[in-house]
Amino acid sequence: MDVFEAILRRRDVRNEFAGEVIDDDRLLRILSAAHSAPSVGNTQPWDFVVVQDPGTLARFAEHVGDCREDFARSLPEDRKDTLNPISIEGIELSRTGVVVTYDPTRGGTHILGRHTIDETGHLSVALAIQNLWLAATAEGIGVGWVSFYREPFLRELVDVPEHVHVVAWLCVGPVTRLQTVPDLERFGWRQRRPLAEAVHRERYPNGDVGSDR
Ligand SMILES: Cc1cc2nc3c(=O)[nH]c(=O)nc-3n(C[C@H](O)[C@H](O)[C@H](O)COP(=O)(O)O)c2cc1C
Repeated sequence: MDVFEAILRRRDVRNEFAGEVIDDDRLLRILSAAHSAPSVGNTQPWDFVVVQDPGTLARFAEHVGDCREDFARSLPEDRKDTLNPISIEGIELSRTGVVVTYDPTRGGTHILGRHTIDETGHLSVALAIQNLWLAATAEGIGVGWVSFYREPFLRELVDVPEHVHVVAWLCVGPVTRLQTVPDLERFGWRQRRPLAEAVHRERYPNGDVGSDR
């Protein structure tokens, strides 16, 4: 699979996990792709905690269910109805969670490139996740990013120290298929903007304010 094909086929997966545990060889190849990402000052500030204990997966799934209910309660009625059929996680079905963390102390105090833009640390971790996601797609493995959690809960669940940020829980596992259209588009939550709306020449356009839909 070439890189454009992987980019186009990549999907956020929730319902399509086959219920089997990913084999270690493929898991390590995918993590090796993540670990090959670029990073500010070459700090490689990420770590990956692989979680496969069914009890831990169940505890996290329950917490995520509570966070989903909090979000649903915050919505107006019509948006609540749109959210209802959308699954926001595949924690137990995927059989494997990869918790991705960011350690801002990695590399010491003089980080080349982060002295002006602090977010570059977090951005480096996001690039590692994208590498992981694309490599997984090429390996026929599904990934679903879960951010419906409270950071202190997940930190305690997998023993992450105070100074390290928890960036993501990734559900990782073999799939029956990949959807061709993202769930949020299929269920009418939000569509992809046309490329022409996102590309600008010379200047950022004025007056573009975000909306609920
Ligand atoms: C930072 C980030 C956080 C996300 N959090 C969630 C989440 O908590 N639950 C969920 O179902 N999807 C989550 N997603 C997946 C997005 O909904 C999905 O990427 C988007 O709808 C586009 O679909 P696609 O990835 O299949 O192209 C997240 C994606 C990103 C990049």
